Amino acid sequence: MKKPAVTTTLFAICALLITACGGGNTTTNTVTTTTTTGVSGSIPIGIAFAQTSNVALLGQEGVAGAKIAEKYFNDKGGINGTQFKLIFQDASGDEAGAINAFQTLINKDKVVGIIGPTLSQQAFSADPIAERAKVPVVGASNTAKGIPEIGDYIARVSSSVAVVAPNSVKAALKQNPSIKKVAVFFAQNDAFNKSETEIFQKTVKDLGLELVTVQKFQTTDTDFQSQATNAINLKPDLAIISGLAADGGNLVRQLRELGYKGAIIGGNGLNSSNVLSVCKALCDGVMIAQAYSPEHPGEINAAFRKAYVDQFKKEPPQFSAQAFAAVQVYVEALRALDTKSKISTIPLEKLRTELNKEILAGKYNTPLGEIAFTPVGEVIQKDFYVAQIKMEKDGSTGKFAFIK
Ligand code: ALA
Repeated sequence: MKKPAVTTTLFAICALLITACGGGNTTTNTVTTTTTTGVSGSIPIGIAFAQTSNVALLGQEGVAGAKIAEKYFNDKGGINGTQFKLIFQDASGDEAGAINAFQTLINKDKVVGIIGPTLSQQAFSADPIAERAKVPVVGASNTAKGIPEIGDYIARVSSSVAVVAPNSVKAALKQNPSIKKVAVFFAQNDAFNKSETEIFQKTVKDLGLELVTVQKFQTTDTDFQSQATNAINLKPDLAIISGLAADGGNLVRQLRELGYKGAIIGGNGLNSSNVLSVCKALCDGVMIAQAYSPEHPGEINAAFRKAYVDQFKKEPPQFSAQAFAAVQVYVEALRALDTKSKISTIPLEKLRTELNKEILAGKYNTPLGEIAFTPVGEVIQKDFYVAQIKMEKDGSTGKFAFIK
């Protein structure tokens, strides 16, 4: 059972006691319109991804997927004939940025729910704000252990490290059965990377491999010479990196520059084509587990994939597919709710609560495949994959080739 939210703001009290708060004047009328008579006009859904900072390497892929979903579903009639609009607030790369974005979306933009933030590290600070305000949150890239457990209003479409990460180790072993010694690296200042490395280390031990060293770094580091040298001296056959795109990409590059020839696995924070511009030709061969494949069958993925390829001239990445799926969850839950009782007649606070219940109750046929939620808000997803980076001869362009 999750912890119930208890905060009642002065604002909400005023909304309930319109007369006492001066319901006749213009300012209060603006407030009471959205809080007592429901959402009028397009239905606002908040997006709090990182659009600035080093985390924007991941956040911009979320933005791209969300925008494709906005056009796709609005072209199909939106919410039973009413359009919805995505309201973007930059969550940047830290906790303060995510908290600001959430507060603005909840209190100023009066969104029905939020998608984001980009990092689990940010979600652990920002999600409790939405939980206390009783505003649904669907994480679209948060993969650390414990995200849905933050509260009743918190769910995610991004499968946990616990189910995704082991796939890449198994694929590396299949490709190279002689792997015995493993060096693990992780960013110790980031919640998701700490969570992911635990899974990687457990998988290594469970598969009977020898964990020869665990090296730590920070997501803001650029120099990995000492960690790379320490590991290389122990002659590992496999290096596993839990970091974000910029630091993780730099670590891959420096391992190779220092002569490491073994296999490399990158975690979910490296799962972006933006990593290619960091390690360039030296990215070649890095394996990364995936919760999405552009080849996934079905009409919705075909439409998403085509829209993405038309716009960006490359295959859609996982973070874009997950953001599309998160918007789809909101659209389909809002449609279901509207069919039972017209959304425009439901006061915003009630709408947010009812919407949260609909989100958790639904089944969604998304580009990720069929998904649903456990009662706590954890995504239930069937299909997982592993991709391997293949760089072109030019040394700067490349792609994720699916090997499983
Ligand atoms: N998957 C990464 C996180 O959860 C982006 O922080």
